Amino acid sequence: MIRRLAPSVLNADLAQLADQVRLVEEAADWIHLDLMDGHFVPNLSFGPPVVAALRPHTAHYLDCHLMVANPEALLPALAEAGAGGVTMHVEALDDPRRAVRAAADLGMAPGLALRPGTPLQAVLPHLDAVDLVLPMTVEPGFGGQAFDDGVLPKIAAARDAIGRASRPVALQVDGGVNAATLPRCLDAGADVFVVGTAIFGADDPAAAAKAFRALLDREDR
Ligand code: DX5
Ligand code: ZN
Repeated sequence: MIRRLAPSVLNADLAQLADQVRLVEEAADWIHLDLMDGHFVPNLSFGPPVVAALRPHTAHYLDCHLMVANPEALLPALAEAGAGGVTMHVEALDDPRRAVRAAADLGMAPGLALRPGTPLQAVLPHLDAVDLVLPMTVEPGFGGQAFDDGVLPKIAAARDAIGRASRPVALQVDGGVNAATLPRCLDAGADVFVVGTAIFGADDPAAAAKAFRALLDREDR
């Protein structure tokens, strides 16, 4: 199974966004971008213009996590901005099917995210249409929160369901992922690891990202 590292820049120095991404570029597979609207979550971060501004500064796939009340409304602007994937919260969608199709029609890889309390059942009917599932391991909205071990059974159940799906579906984890919690996510079957403060809150983000890369590449797991 390919394991991907997706550093989240939410808690990076956003005034130096391109430089911060460059620090982790070698170790990273994807760059994770957290869009927040102050409605779906109580925090406000950035929107499609920042995705567009970053686009020329890295060749990496831009993995956009939409913590917004109306994710479908952002899809055309994100496609224009050069987003690679768009992960929408199932709680924010009246019709997940329609939203997933709209993202795919715009050339982006659709994903569905779940808050920690949302049952996996909410996304199971759409596994034949998505490229990624994200069971959040913290309440979305802020970096630096503690990993919720209670989500691990849901991650394992998602791995089982993905094994029966008709297409390859990535299983992402996001929230409180650090050197201690990442192995639990690996054991539960996750294959895309979003890491925010454990990289950008470190004294040396480049070294921290490389250490996560090494952890993921270790063959003895
Ligand atoms: C939180 C965001 C995360 C955040 C993760 O809602 O979705 O991507 O940046 O940060 P850490 O790794 O610090 O939990
Ligand atoms: Zn995120």
